[in-house]
Amino acid sequence: MTDYLPLLIVGAIIGVFSAALILAYVFVKDKKESMGFERNMKDGELMKRLLRYAKPYWFNFVIVGLVMLLSVSYNILSPILTSDITKIIQQKDGFIYNDVLWRVIIYAVVLIGSLVGTYVQAMVLQKTGQKIISQLREDAFTHIESLSHAQLSHIPVGKLVTRVTNDTNAISMMFTGMLANLVKNVFVIVGVLVAMLFVNYMLTLMVLCFVPFIVLFTVIFRKFSRRAYRQVKNGTTDINTYLSEHLSGMKIIQVFNREERKMQEFDSKNQKLYRAQRGQIFVFGIFRPSVYMLYISSVLCLFFLASKGALDGRAILGQVVDGATVVAFYMFVSRFFNPIQNLAEQFHRLQSAFASAEKIFTILDIKPQVVDEADAVELGEIRGEIEFKNVWFAYNEGEWVLKDVSFHVNAKDTVAFVGATGSGKTTILSLLCRNYDIQKGEILLDGINIRRIKISSLRKHFGQMLQDVFLFAGTVRSNIVLRDEFDDEEVIAACKYVNADKFIDKLANGLDEEVRERGNNFSAGQRQLLSFARTIIHRPEIMILDEATANIDTETELLIQDSLDKMMNIGTMLIVAHRLSTIQHADNIIVLSDGQIIEQGNHHELLQKKGRYYDLYMLQFNKEQLQKQAKTAQ
Ligand SMILES: Nc1ncnc2c1ncn2[C@@H]1O[C@H](COP(=O)(O)OP(=O)(O)OP(=O)(O)O)[C@@H](O)[C@H]1O
Ligand SMILES: [Mg+2]
Repeated sequence: MTDYLPLLIVGAIIGVFSAALILAYVFVKDKKESMGFERNMKDGELMKRLLRYAKPYWFNFVIVGLVMLLSVSYNILSPILTSDITKIIQQKDGFIYNDVLWRVIIYAVVLIGSLVGTYVQAMVLQKTGQKIISQLREDAFTHIESLSHAQLSHIPVGKLVTRVTNDTNAISMMFTGMLANLVKNVFVIVGVLVAMLFVNYMLTLMVLCFVPFIVLFTVIFRKFSRRAYRQVKNGTTDINTYLSEHLSGMKIIQVFNREERKMQEFDSKNQKLYRAQRGQIFVFGIFRPSVYMLYISSVLCLFFLASKGALDGRAILGQVVDGATVVAFYMFVSRFFNPIQNLAEQFHRLQSAFASAEKIFTILDIKPQVVDEADAVELGEIRGEIEFKNVWFAYNEGEWVLKDVSFHVNAKDTVAFVGATGSGKTTILSLLCRNYDIQKGEILLDGINIRRIKISSLRKHFGQMLQDVFLFAGTVRSNIVLRDEFDDEEVIAACKYVNADKFIDKLANGLDEEVRERGNNFSAGQRQLLSFARTIIHRPEIMILDEATANIDTETELLIQDSLDKMMNIGTMLIVAHRLSTIQHADNIIVLSDGQIIEQGNHHELLQKKGRYYDLYMLQFNKEQLQKQAKTAQ
């Protein structure tokens, strides 16, 4: 009994430690269930979808598999060679130098082969992984582009950013390292096990006694690590979402002096992420040392048993234990434990990659609401005639924003929409290009229901100048041409046509002047003129203008007025204007109130009617008169 005291002590320590971990496992179980994080897609299904992305590169994976054999063989051969060399050196009647030399050379060759193999493997995998991931990123982005306005407004921008960047990265790591390591580790474990059995099966059985504990620790570790990972991931998404929203709104935060409050909100999110990260480090901090403890224990047991075997001069189950066996096993044990620990960690990284994959696929699975019908037609040239027939529309079910709206616009006519804020003007314009689908009624373009027209073909014919002019970071030129090819003369001509040339000429770099994010280094009026130029150059048959309510200086206003007058001659034009002077020359003016058309006609007809338009006009006219009088009085 006392002979085996060291073994008993090791056993007791491992037993107590395992019991403590099991207790922790049971204790935390309830907590996890109450958190209710569950995945919806099965691992198998996710793997299948991911492998579909990897399929075109199967050849690369075959190469990786072959090269991997080099490093697997190094793991198996190196202990055997070392043990052989030990044996030769130990020979009492002098060792044969050449025998050692040969083995050293083989050792070196295998080692170099394994190093080269690792390099090739990393290179091939990195390249392949990046290709796969850029495809996935592209798919995600294209898909996000296809979502309707309504769908997009339900997903926070920060979340989408996290999906396209962080989540695809997690998957990339899976392809570049994890899968290959997984396979390699399994090979190494099996290979080393077989080699150990060959060298001494008694000692192998001893090493195997530790495996159940590794499995136990791994199961417990996986549970904790999965929880920690989810928390980190949710924390990251949370912070990204918060940041993207608040950085865009930073000016408002400053204007309203909310820095302190926002800082506190950010701080609490930051702390949450910090705690989640710390939790994750803690989980690793427990797991790695505990597997190391098992490793050291098995080495101690090995030394103990081996030394006993050697002292007694007895062979164990027919195999004699000598110094060389101990050396071989000492090396085998580490080569056996390492991949097991790796596997456990890989598994949970794999889980996290799966979690990311699920999030991306969930986005990819959102069915675009506004899609082409199966037999949708391509539009060639159009005349530009538009008709709304008893159109009903609601952003949210049951809350009608447009109620039974009907109107007709002849080709090349200009129609203006007038009405109080919230009356549905912008809504009408966005329905035309199918940013949303209507619930009842029909919208016809040249007599064809727009639902029957391919969306891309439909939108090509529209030039949209929206209420909130969006400029991209880039240059004045890139914002005018967007992605299409136009030469300088065309750009300059378009700018001249809409009177944008006057302010562009004053810019230090002209057309190459930098436009900062969202065009925040340009005034509202300038942005509007740029959006006119952008529209004109693409020569649309139908133009939509949703005039900004922002105050524009009188000089710019005159420029805008002049360019609008010109644009009205190009094609059909639908315009929402807040200054009624802008639309006096429109062929038809539609007055909206609370989603319904209350009157329509041209400027003179409507004035004679003395209805809502007359009231609005008089209101603005009197205001302008008063302003003029005030100016002359000064
Ligand atoms: N994306 C949306 N989701 C839900 N409701 C919306 C959305 N956009 C607009 N609405 C609602 O639809 C109604 C009409 O809005 P719309 O933007 O068409 O008004 P508008 O006439 O253009 O007003 P303004 O003159 O202020 O630009 C408003 O009551 C508004 O609250
Ligand atoms: Mg509007």
